[in-house]
Formats: sequence, structure tokens, C-alpha cells
Amino acid sequence: MIISGMRKLATIVFLLMLLIVGCKQVEQTDSASETAETSAEAAVDGNLIKVKMRMYEFDPDPIMMKAGEKYIIELTAVDVPHGFLVPDLGVNVRVTPGEVKRVSVIPQEAGTYEVKCHVYCGEGHSNMKGTIIVE
Ligand code: CUA
Repeated sequence: MIISGMRKLATIVFLLMLLIVGCKQVEQTDSASETAETSAEAAVDGNLIKVKMRMYEFDPDPIMMKAGEKYIIELTAVDVPHGFLVPDLGVNVRVTPGEVKRVSVIPQEAGTYEVKCHVYCGEGHSNMKGTIIVE
């Protein structure tokens, strides 16, 4: 009786470990498509723009830039995990509260670029949009 109980426990622990390893792999695959980030400790060699993400907005909005200049966008999430996706500038970053992520961009062409949150963050997620204006 005790032995069969221990076997059950061992099986459960084993399955849990499989689950955890499986989740980690999914996470890694998921982040593989993210934009390479600049380390938050690295020296800032461009215009630094700090952007806060919260339900359901980007702050500041719009984000102003000049074509041909280098920018470091520093992203933080205030409440829950959010995403910062700007397909036209090749930016794809996911940020969890407590993290500081930096990504560098050099917009080449003037225009208006849509920023979207691509990490589900609650009821208003699909309306969480922002704008980058490049002059
Ligand atoms: Cu913020 Cu989805």
C-alpha cells in the first residue's frame, strides 16, 4: 500500500517535471522570434525613449522620432505582461512587470507606424494600440 502510494507520487513528480520542461521550451520558442534586445545595463548610444505599458495604453503616445537617427526604446510594463510590436520597424518585444527591456531602432522613412500590444493583457487588449511618428 505504501509502496504503491510512493510510486504514484513518483509518477506525479515525474509528470510535473515534464510539464515544467515542456513549458520552458515553449517559452524559448516563443521568444526566439523577438527582436534582439540591448542589455539594460549597456551604455545608451542613441536617443533614449522610455515607454511605459499599462492596461491599455502606451505612454507616451505618440512616440516621436526623426528619420535616420538611432533610438533606444526602453520598455517597462506597469501592471501585467504586455507586448510592443511594430512590424514595419522590425520590433517585437514582450515585457513582464519588473523587467526593463531595451531595443534599438533607426527608422529610415518618415511616416506613421502602428504599435500594437501582442501579448494578451485583459479585456481591452485588442484596443491597446499606439503610434510612432517619424519625421
Ligand atoms: Cu497590453 Cu495586450
